[in-house]
Amino acid sequence: METENINIGLLGLGTVGTEVAYQLIHNNNIINNQKSKVQINLSKVLVNDINKKRPDFLPTDKITDNPNDILNDNNINLIVELIGGDQIALDMINQAVDKKVNIVTANKLIMSKYGHELITRAKNNGILLLYEASVGAGIPIIGPLYHSLTANHINRINAIINGTTNYILSNMSTGTQTFENALKQAQNLGYAESDPTSDIEGIDAAYKLSILASIVLNNRITEEDVYREGITKLSAVDFKYAKDLGYTIKLLAIGELDPENVSLRVHPCLISNDHLLAKVEGVYNAIEIQGNPIGNIIFHGEGAGPKSTSSAILGDIISIANNISNSETPNFKRSFINYESELQRALNAQNKYRLSAHTTDKRHIQFAALKDPKDVMPRQVLDYLTTSKNNGNNVNVEHEMISAMENQMLYQTLVQSISAEFSRVNIVLR
Ligand SMILES: NC(=O)c1ccc[n+]([C@@H]2O[C@H](COP(=O)([O-])OP(=O)(O)OC[C@H]3O[C@@H](n4cnc5c(N)ncnc54)[C@H](OP(=O)(O)O)[C@@H]3O)[C@@H](O)[C@H]2O)c1
Repeated sequence: METENINIGLLGLGTVGTEVAYQLIHNNNIINNQKSKVQINLSKVLVNDINKKRPDFLPTDKITDNPNDILNDNNINLIVELIGGDQIALDMINQAVDKKVNIVTANKLIMSKYGHELITRAKNNGILLLYEASVGAGIPIIGPLYHSLTANHINRINAIINGTTNYILSNMSTGTQTFENALKQAQNLGYAESDPTSDIEGIDAAYKLSILASIVLNNRITEEDVYREGITKLSAVDFKYAKDLGYTIKLLAIGELDPENVSLRVHPCLISNDHLLAKVEGVYNAIEIQGNPIGNIIFHGEGAGPKSTSSAILGDIISIANNISNSETPNFKRSFINYESELQRALNAQNKYRLSAHTTDKRHIQFAALKDPKDVMPRQVLDYLTTSKNNGNNVNVEHEMISAMENQMLYQTLVQSISAEFSRVNIVLR
């Protein structure tokens, strides 16, 4: 198998983008030392301010402030979106989906508000959109929900998924800091933004909870479906009473996920000091999943920061590379499909290919796509050809792909199915 290339267009070179670029360049040996035969390259990086000083490890000719240098470059086959925010990033992701370019993003706002539609469109276009870093940064949670935990009935999520508020509450719980002081300290250390509204009002946690709930319930859920109350009303006296009673105060994102009775909410909670979540301190995050048959499990780790976040992003990039290299299709851009669903889709579609049959009694028939997987060969066509053959006519059947069949491998599979049908009546498909 020849080596294929993943050429990355990185959108954003801020806190996270810089670390991802660094890892792609400096740890290229590790990143490319996977079982896959795909070579991962950083092709271009988009920034807002081209005059800003950039790290020395990045050649200047890789940096651009023109989105079209990435979005219109046909050699770029993976977009990594690390701009953040809403409209501009969404517009670029939409363009990538339309162009059938795989996407990795860490953008919880976009995945919460528009994730359901984007994932559906990405699937329909045969590409992957991965977003592990959007919840809990490097803590693996989205992958496990999609894969290792998928056999479970998950009935509850209890999560500390905002590092800023957890840092503030951890400091307030010592009894030495007011909310205002703890917030100021978080800002000084870079744990809180200059405008901390999204964190302290629970909006950020609501985005993340809605992303997790969407996966568990396989449904469109946004932050608007989440009840929320932030931490701004908490005061020192709350922490004193909590402590006296053996509790800790945490901002919890709670999902009660019985499909008949869903409740999603973010608010400060009293947690018994015995519970593992009560011991999650500082900017750390933890996500408890209660499911059947798994029982209770907790994922714990750094829920923010460039190193942790880049781990999830690079993992997503390598997953896409592995997905490509597992394919037997020469054109890897078309091989990111879920084979089963794509086959189903093709079988449900019409006029994807044409079979032409010529018989020596000068009759010529043409017939087009299969409609039902159970009816691999339309019965009346097979009957006609069988009768013709039995009457001593030679039957030549040829197949031809018509434009829309997107996948050579899939087409070959369909041809093989039809050949198998024909072989029962000694008709050869050429
Ligand atoms: N920081 C974390 O710990 C963390 C953790 C998990 C997830 N995330 C997510 O990761 C994403 C990136 O976060 P970050 O902290 O790295 O953000 P950041 O430091 O603010 O960086 C944003 C980058 O995007 C560029 N940018 C902004 N607007 C642009 C525009 N209109 N056109 C082109 N480039 C533009 C900026 O360019 P300039 O450099 O020229 O200003 C900057 O390089 C966000 O979605 C965030 O929610 C972050």
